[in-house]
Amino acid sequence: MENRKMDVQIYHGSMATSPAMGELICRENVFTVVKDGVIEGIYEDFPQKFSGVPVTELGSGILIPAFSDLHIHASQFTERGVGMDCLLFDWLSNYTFPQEAGFASLPYAEKIYPQVIRELLRHGTMHASFFTTVHYDACDLFFRLLQKSGMYAFTGKVNMDMNSPEFLIEDTEDSLSETERFVAEHSGDSHVKPILTPRFAPTCSERLLKGLADIGKRYHVGLQTHLVESRAESAWTKELFPEYRTDGDIYEKLGFLDNGPVIFAHVIFPEELDLDILKRHGCMSVHCPDATTNITAGIMPVSDLQAEGLPISLGSDIGGGHGAAVYRQAGRAVQLSKMKEFYEPDYRRIKFADAFYMATAAGGTVFGKTGQLKEGYKFNALVIDGLEDVGARHSTAELLERFCYIGDDRNIVKRFLDGREIDPEEVYRGLL
Ligand code: GUN
Ligand code: FE
Repeated sequence: MENRKMDVQIYHGSMATSPAMGELICRENVFTVVKDGVIEGIYEDFPQKFSGVPVTELGSGILIPAFSDLHIHASQFTERGVGMDCLLFDWLSNYTFPQEAGFASLPYAEKIYPQVIRELLRHGTMHASFFTTVHYDACDLFFRLLQKSGMYAFTGKVNMDMNSPEFLIEDTEDSLSETERFVAEHSGDSHVKPILTPRFAPTCSERLLKGLADIGKRYHVGLQTHLVESRAESAWTKELFPEYRTDGDIYEKLGFLDNGPVIFAHVIFPEELDLDILKRHGCMSVHCPDATTNITAGIMPVSDLQAEGLPISLGSDIGGGHGAAVYRQAGRAVQLSKMKEFYEPDYRRIKFADAFYMATAAGGTVFGKTGQLKEGYKFNALVIDGLEDVGARHSTAELLERFCYIGDDRNIVKRFLDGREIDPEEVYRGLL
């Protein structure tokens, strides 16, 4: 009787989860017990202490952790699959900057941003770190929509006060005061948090960056930005910041790296000093395979960063990347690592288990105990199904790999956020 009163659910069937880089745990016929939205335990036999609690049978479904997308531009949602034959700088100038200017209009943001959240939930992403634009009101709206959705998120107001078109460039002092207001007004929430978001070094003056670092220290707020994304970007940054030795040196010297999570997108051309800085401060690097292919930035040296013991996760980088499915980025990360190994025989390709860890648990670390199916972790999870061919018999690990390569949102048959089953369409309607 006691068990009926508790908020307990039990799921029986197969599961797959990755506890560490390169490790994949697959179990069949297990009972996953969820209590108050948190995994109470995973059992080989039905745990008698929960007698009376109904069991949900997963059948041919596989329970997996929800995905984490640690680098996505909510403001570039409508750019998915457009301008994909450009390189970074012409893509920014011809597509991205004019498109982002639209977020000066709040009614426009009210139309676009709920769709971003729906699309992510549809693809099983429940943890994400978002860029928006420079516009305060649209950023504030997006923050409130994320809170309402229940997603785990970081988001920040983008800063850019130089080397940007007239219609996006900010006055340095306004950029700082609006960022401080954003951080002050949005601190303290448990599942959505503000993060400093200077676009990248070439669009930020030293004065702006110094002021942002100061806000970071005073409010204990972390940082997200693009770091050594392309050769051209690295060279330009050095030219603009001659007093600093590398891109990473700027953020370390200014004091950005010890105030909260630090999330660096791309990290394709890190120098020794950058690697040393990332290591000393435990910064997260985010690999965005589709984006770095589309804008031909290069290929992140994942296994080199891995050898240094650096945390690495995955990002869709919409709209440099063309789709929201982080599971697809796991497959693409393996593919790109093989291309890198092909052209650079000293390089070592990664395994699927590395990529699945990067898509789930690695990104989950910045949100607390989530991203794994493990006792004490939040039950932010998915059931995937329909991946077997008639007459064939694949292992759980093979079906998971297959999902990341050829599955889509139709193969995600259940989504749980904090233990509750959610429907992305219903969440979307609630945001309008
Ligand atoms: N560098 C500066 N801005 C951007 C952006 O919006 N996307 C990507 N991929 N790189 C950038
Ligand atoms: Fe980006």
